[in-house]
Amino acid sequence: MTQASSVGPASRGGPTEVIQRAAEAELLEAALLSGAHVLLEGPPGTGKSTLLRRVASARHIPFVMVEGNAELTPSRLIGHFDPALVLSKGYVPEIFEDGPLLEALRTGGLLYVEELNRIPEETLNVLLTAMSELEINVPRLGRVAAAAGFALVAAMNPFDAVGTARVSGALYDRTCRISMDYQSAEAEQAIVDLRTDGLDPQWRAKVVELVRSTREHEDIRFGSSVRGAIDVARLAVELARMRSTPTDDWHVGLAAARVSLSGRIRLQDACDRTPEQVITDLYVDVFGAEPVAPEDHSDSDPEGSPGEP
Ligand SMILES: Nc1ncnc2c1ncn2[C@@H]1O[C@H](COP(=O)(O)OP(=O)(O)O)[C@@H](O)[C@H]1O
Ligand SMILES: [Mg+2]
Repeated sequence: MTQASSVGPASRGGPTEVIQRAAEAELLEAALLSGAHVLLEGPPGTGKSTLLRRVASARHIPFVMVEGNAELTPSRLIGHFDPALVLSKGYVPEIFEDGPLLEALRTGGLLYVEELNRIPEETLNVLLTAMSELEINVPRLGRVAAAAGFALVAAMNPFDAVGTARVSGALYDRTCRISMDYQSAEAEQAIVDLRTDGLDPQWRAKVVELVRSTREHEDIRFGSSVRGAIDVARLAVELARMRSTPTDDWHVGLAAARVSLSGRIRLQDACDRTPEQVITDLYVDVFGAEPVAPEDHSDSDPEGSPGEP
């Protein structure tokens, strides 16, 4: 059975409630307590950020989150002197605006860098230095040493086309790695349940089955994460309300699935079909063929009562 972990207070559906992942949470906690830096490696949507938020909040560890991308320059990461004040005051420490790395170093918190593989080489080097030396030297500011507790937690999608090869050697040598794969169908159903309200469990299970089938299909290189399932469910609820039909209406589900999933899957290069066509096939596999003699929705009673959510 699926269970929410029960460490510390967490409101239902709150950002720190985690379905399963107890083993990963335990390892992450132990790694952080041991003073190690950690690499959370797995495809998007496998709960890496959710897990870290959970562990950090349960342990009351401050953490600073940065999105890794090409714009994350060393000065964005470290911080900079306020250029307007430099003119009048010069390079004094009081006018230095800490970036996320300095904030984490000074507070002894975690620096959480998502998509670490996407950051520029120079920025990665700054991080690698901070990790091994536990201090950095900032021009004109001086040496900033890490307060106890500082650690880097990096998240990476090993299948990302950008920069993964470049990052690996130096980073793997300085981190403990926790691998995060897709969770079970039951866990994913529970996650969708956490992020939506009052769905029929059988319909919800089929939505999860549909999303999971995108990870197996021969025409699809990368399928959707549970994020896709959450969106299908939420979108279907709204669409059904607008159309005054039940959420599990076949056409509502198909429209929600096509919109929510077509952009989330990557087709094989050799595939000559559109993502919408592939999603439609998968939808029919899970939800059955289009029902015959459906009611005509185009002239449905405009005063009709709203559909059951
Ligand atoms: N084990 C889980 N428990 C609760 N929610 C989860 C879990 N895994 C994923 N989610 C939900 O799925 C979405 C993606 O999770 P996230 O932690 O952002 O993934 P990642 O950081 O790996 O891309 C979020 O809405 C999150 O709440
Ligand atoms: Mg994330």
